[in-house]
Amino acid sequence: MTHAPSPRNRSLRLDDADRDRLAPLLAGAAILGGGTDPIAWPEAEDRVIQGDCLAVLPRLPRASFDLLVADPPYNLAKDFGAERGRRMDDEAYEAYTGAWLDAALPLLKPDASVYVFGDWRGSSALYRALSRRLVVRNKIVWEREKGRAAAANWKSAHEEIWFATTSETWRFDTAAVRQRRLVRAPYRDEAGRPKDWVEDEAGRYRDTAASNIWTDLTVPYWSMPENTPHPTQKPEKLLAKLLLASVAPGGRILDPFLGSGTSAVVAKKLGRRFVGVELDAEHCLHALRRLELAGTEPRIQGYEDGVFWERNSSPRRGPTR
Ligand SMILES: C[S@@+](CC[C@H](N)C(=O)[O-])C[C@H]1O[C@@H](n2cnc3c(N)ncnc32)[C@H](O)[C@@H]1O
Repeated sequence: MTHAPSPRNRSLRLDDADRDRLAPLLAGAAILGGGTDPIAWPEAEDRVIQGDCLAVLPRLPRASFDLLVADPPYNLAKDFGAERGRRMDDEAYEAYTGAWLDAALPLLKPDASVYVFGDWRGSSALYRALSRRLVVRNKIVWEREKGRAAAANWKSAHEEIWFATTSETWRFDTAAVRQRRLVRAPYRDEAGRPKDWVEDEAGRYRDTAASNIWTDLTVPYWSMPENTPHPTQKPEKLLAKLLLASVAPGGRILDPFLGSGTSAVVAKKLGRRFVGVELDAEHCLHALRRLELAGTEPRIQGYEDGVFWERNSSPRRGPTR
């Protein structure tokens, strides 16, 4: 028996009309992704290219990107459609990471930044591969709410993002990624004025510098319009932090493992440019549909009025207590 989707289910679904409209775009991308000729500007600009990044990246213009954001298959046995992940030993995962990094790094500008996603298992291999090629600056840990309980272990509830730069010069806009925190202990000075916090219709809060522990994210799920069938889709809010901190408006982002298109969608919403490469045709179609929708819906859930709000709070909802 099949169940009708709940009326509150706002996940993205492609219908026949979407496929008819988007398939020619994807065919164009497949041609871009399929040959061996160089792909120049402006042909490459804001493109979703279907193909294997190891084959596509060497064809893209060199020294052109301000940011590499890479969410490769984690070192797990997982089915991504066109690509079936298998668990490698740490040395093999480090070599795999080195191979795609070596294809991507020549495309970066001399003052570019790099973010690479992973989980705790792949952490040491990612660190070794990155530190051999780049200056590693930090590791962000973000709380991933979803996750199976473990029978005889701590439930895994976080993922990681390594932050590195190509040189000693890089962009970092702290003011653009301020975190709005609700004030639980509203201290006042002797005159009764709020100490380092404000109060308005949104509640009592302070805007703080973003740290390397992120607890304000929600992994896309069925009631969120950004949700697609992709098995490891990242939240738009997460990508918004990376892009706002590390790429100026108009700057260019490279994503060699585009998946459902989150980095490209966020780039479009925030006025940055992008090139994304993805192996699986179905994921590319979802990315293209999300890019269409981003033209009319520029909002990013959880990022409003230029600040990142705590989970389940916003100017419209007010704070949750
Ligand atoms: C972890 S997912 C990325 C999810 C993405 N950040 C999102 O928000 O949807 C990794 C993606 O890399 C793709 N992939 C794996 N190997 C690839 C390759 N060699 N070239 C291009 N894409 C690849 C997979 O199909 C999968 O969609």
